[in-house]
Amino acid sequence: MTKTEQLIAEFDKYVMPTYGRLPLAFVRGAGSRVWDADGNEYLDFGGGIAVNVLGHAALTQVLLEASSKLVHVSNLYYTEPQGRLAKKLVELVGAPGKVFFCNSGGEANEAQFKLARKFGNGRYETLTFTGSFHGRTMAGISATGQEKVKHGFAPLLEGFRHVPFNDLAAVANAVGPKTAAILLEPIQGESGIKPATPEFLRGLRRLCDEKNLLLQFDEVQCGIGRTGNFCGWRSIAPDVVPDSISWAKGLAGGFPMGAMWARQPYQDVLGPGTHATTFGGTPLACSVALAVLEQIEKAGLMANAKALGDYFIQCLKTVPGVKEVRGIGLMIGVELPVESKPVLLKMAEHGLIGVQAGTHVVRFLPALNVTRAEVDEAVEKFARALA
Ligand SMILES: Cc1ncc(COP(=O)(O)O)c(C=O)c1O
Repeated sequence: MTKTEQLIAEFDKYVMPTYGRLPLAFVRGAGSRVWDADGNEYLDFGGGIAVNVLGHAALTQVLLEASSKLVHVSNLYYTEPQGRLAKKLVELVGAPGKVFFCNSGGEANEAQFKLARKFGNGRYETLTFTGSFHGRTMAGISATGQEKVKHGFAPLLEGFRHVPFNDLAAVANAVGPKTAAILLEPIQGESGIKPATPEFLRGLRRLCDEKNLLLQFDEVQCGIGRTGNFCGWRSIAPDVVPDSISWAKGLAGGFPMGAMWARQPYQDVLGPGTHATTFGGTPLACSVALAVLEQIEKAGLMANAKALGDYFIQCLKTVPGVKEVRGIGLMIGVELPVESKPVLLKMAEHGLIGVQAGTHVVRFLPALNVTRAEVDEAVEKFARALA
């Protein structure tokens, strides 16, 4: 038995089988590389599903410093890092607003759902989209436009309806007297990297203004610089400003953190006592996120994501056996004529990690500081695996 096999055998005895895991067990990482329990090296282009924006082992210094100062105090008190991070995020969005902190994408979306209901004041319906993914909480699976996540969990939460993505007329038709909000991923991630069109985002903004609805963006996967802009939608329609945004994944580069931003005049809709979480926005998590955002700006990583993303997409289009390549910046989906799971296993044999999306898509979501040489290496490994 290899060390990996031993680890997996022991693991499976005690950990619930909620994930379709690949038979890989990682023990160490550095930059865009990871090593498994048997010492094999891999190029990590899954990035922990768009989480490790600075790569592996990049947070040591800030974790040491911040954790030796103050790890946690309750949200019944004020802390400097939380205030500073909120200010930074508001500046990065570029429109006046305020931020609520939590711990994951699912929770950040819960905050958006609750914001919509409070704002709706009796109107309780949120329109979401076919193929969307908004997390695994009960409200998250109710909002998600994919049957597979709902199966076995009825009755779901009332008040969500799914409409076809990128079909403005269908959305306009679907708006009813109970509708309060429209929620979407500007680039659908889990269902296979499907960007909204600029006309769609602009049309939704107009529709929400006309009908007094909140326009809510789920930027959990496409945000935090991955598309070349801090906000993913700005890589599609820079002039559109949503009413609220959810973030998580890359926000603290692998340290668990989520957040919701809401713009003026909705920033105070969730007042004292309406929403809370024990761990949201600890001084430790906020210090890590501040260090991550500082590094993204200082090292020009958004420009890197755009330049290397464009290059990567061009290279992937030349790989024999690829059906279609979609994406913006370093959020890339490769559509294959075959199911992608066996291909991901082959890629791992060749030392390359990607992530499945939908059934036939391999997703690449590498660190934003990935190098051109690493992209070349990934393309070469991917081509060999596909062959
Ligand atoms: C767009 C989107 N929203 C929400 C989530 C849920 O985030 P979390 O797993 O942190 O709860 C995900 C996770 O993949 C996501 O991609």
